[in-house]
Amino acid sequence: MRLSDTPLIAADAIQRRVAELARLVDVDLAGPELVAVVVLKGAVIFAADLVRHLATPTRLEFVRARSYQGTESAGPVELTAHTAPPVTGRNVLVIEDILDTGRTTAAILEQLRAQQPARLALCALLDKPARRTVDIEADYVGFTIEDRFVVGYGLDYDEQFRHLPAVHVLEDA
Ligand code: IMP
Ligand code: MG
Repeated sequence: MRLSDTPLIAADAIQRRVAELARLVDVDLAGPELVAVVVLKGAVIFAADLVRHLATPTRLEFVRARSYQGTESAGPVELTAHTAPPVTGRNVLVIEDILDTGRTTAAILEQLRAQQPARLALCALLDKPARRTVDIEADYVGFTIEDRFVVGYGLDYDEQFRHLPAVHVLEDA
């Protein structure tokens, strides 16, 4: 198990793209307050950078969802540790690290949609469309990537590598 020598997505490219995404979110979701629902743990670093580029007043809420062990998606999606975000009648932006099968994100969106937000949008740093098993698309995607297991900038392999400023491919994963 080792990291690619060259990052798949360099830190400065990520930073430029995050600023662009924030401009799009500001245009689409302008209003008195945006509720950012950050999906723990993988989206924390992305969200921290993204919200600092937003002009729209934004509050931060966190949800945790797990279906992964190692590199394999397994079992039902379990949502825990909600901070009970206010959703009804609000503009809500779900911030995810990566859309892979889409199962986790679909489960989160379903729960939030049931609470009737004014707007519900999804922003994912990465999109791996080749692996999708659920019909779901993000409103904002940082980068579309091939079917490789990636780590860094919040994404982990068994809790390692989240701290890296760039996105790397985990070889032999
Ligand atoms: P999904 O439910 O299959 O879309 O996957 C949801 C979660 O799996 C993501 O939020 C990530 O935490 C994790 N995941 C999926 N692909 C990768 C990857 O390439 N690297 C690290 N984590 C991943
Ligand atoms: Mg993970």
